[in-house]
Amino acid sequence: MEKIKSIQSKEDAIKLLNIALEHEWAVSFEYTIHAYSMPKGKFFYQDPILKRLQDVRAQTIQIGIDEMYHSLQLGIIITQMGGTPSFKTDEVIRYPRIMDNLKRDKETEDMVTALYQDAEFAEGSFPKVQNMVLNISYDEVRHSDQFVAMMEAMRAEGAEEALCYPPSPESSQKEEVQLLHEIMRDENELMHRYLKYVIMFSEHQDLCQRLFKNSIDHMRNWDKNSGILIKMGDVIRIENAAKDETGREKSASPMPSLYPGENRLSALETLIPAENNLIAKYEKLLSMVPEGEIKDQLEKHLGWDREHVFTQEWLLTNARKIKGLK
Ligand SMILES: [Fe+2]
Ligand SMILES: [Fe+2]
Ligand SMILES: [Fe+2]
Repeated sequence: MEKIKSIQSKEDAIKLLNIALEHEWAVSFEYTIHAYSMPKGKFFYQDPILKRLQDVRAQTIQIGIDEMYHSLQLGIIITQMGGTPSFKTDEVIRYPRIMDNLKRDKETEDMVTALYQDAEFAEGSFPKVQNMVLNISYDEVRHSDQFVAMMEAMRAEGAEEALCYPPSPESSQKEEVQLLHEIMRDENELMHRYLKYVIMFSEHQDLCQRLFKNSIDHMRNWDKNSGILIKMGDVIRIENAAKDETGREKSASPMPSLYPGENRLSALETLIPAENNLIAKYEKLLSMVPEGEIKDQLEKHLGWDREHVFTQEWLLTNARKIKGLK
C-alpha cells in the first residue's frame, strides 16, 4: 500500500481515496477467500461487541462485505470529486494455516486504520472526505478487534495449526471443477463490473439500485459456488497466484483491474453478452452434474442470470429511447 499523509489539494485527497480503494477491493476479496477456505461451523469466538459466540468463517465473510461497502463509498466520492476510481488491487495472500490468514487480516486492518487516521487535512478542507475516512476507520478498528478475538479463541482451543482446505490437483483435473472455477472467475468479474457502473451512475438512483441488486446476486452466487467447490473436493482459487515452498499463495492481480463501458450506453451494452456467456457456462455445467442438491443450487444461479438478461435488455432499450439521457 502506498502512503500519503499530508492532504493539501484535491489531487491529494483523490490520491488518498484511491490508495484506500485499492486496499478495500483487495481485502474484500482476501477475507472472503480466507473464509471460503475454512470449515463452516467449526471454529467459534466470543465477539467483543455482539457479546455472543460467532462462527469465525461467517463473521470473516461479513467483514469482507463491509469492505465492499467501503469500496463503494470511496468509489462514489472519488467520482463526485471528478476523479477516476481505481480498480487495481493490493496483493492478496492465502496461507495454508487458518491462523496465519487471521494474523494477516488483523495486520491489514491496522495498516488501513493508520492510513485513514494519520491523514492530515488543513482545517476545514474536504470536510465530507475527512468525516468519511474517520467513520470508515472505526469500522476497521472494530474488524481488527474481531480478528484478535478470533485468534485468541483459536489459540485457546489449541487450533493454531488448523489448516485451510488444500487445493486438490486431482479434483481440479475434472472437467466440471475446471468449469466451475471459470464460472467463479466470471461471477467475480461481473460482480465488480456491476459495481463499477453503480459508482458511475450513482447520481441516477433508479439505475444504480438495479445494478447494485445484480452485483449482490453475483456475489451470492460466488458464495454458494465456493461451497459447491468444497463438495466437489476442491477449494476457491486465487487467480494469477504463485505458491512458494511454504505453501503461501500470493497474487498481485487477483481480479481484473479494468472493466469495459465508459458511458451509459456502452456500459449497458457490455452486460448482456457477459450475462449470456455466463448462462452458457452454467448450462454446460448443469449437463455434467447429476440430479441433487448441487444441481438445484446451480439451477437457481442460472435462473437469476436469465432474469438479469431480461432486466438488462430493458434497461438498454429504455436508455436508447430517451433523448437527452446522459
Ligand atoms: Fe475497509
Ligand atoms: Fe476492515
Ligand atoms: Fe447475472
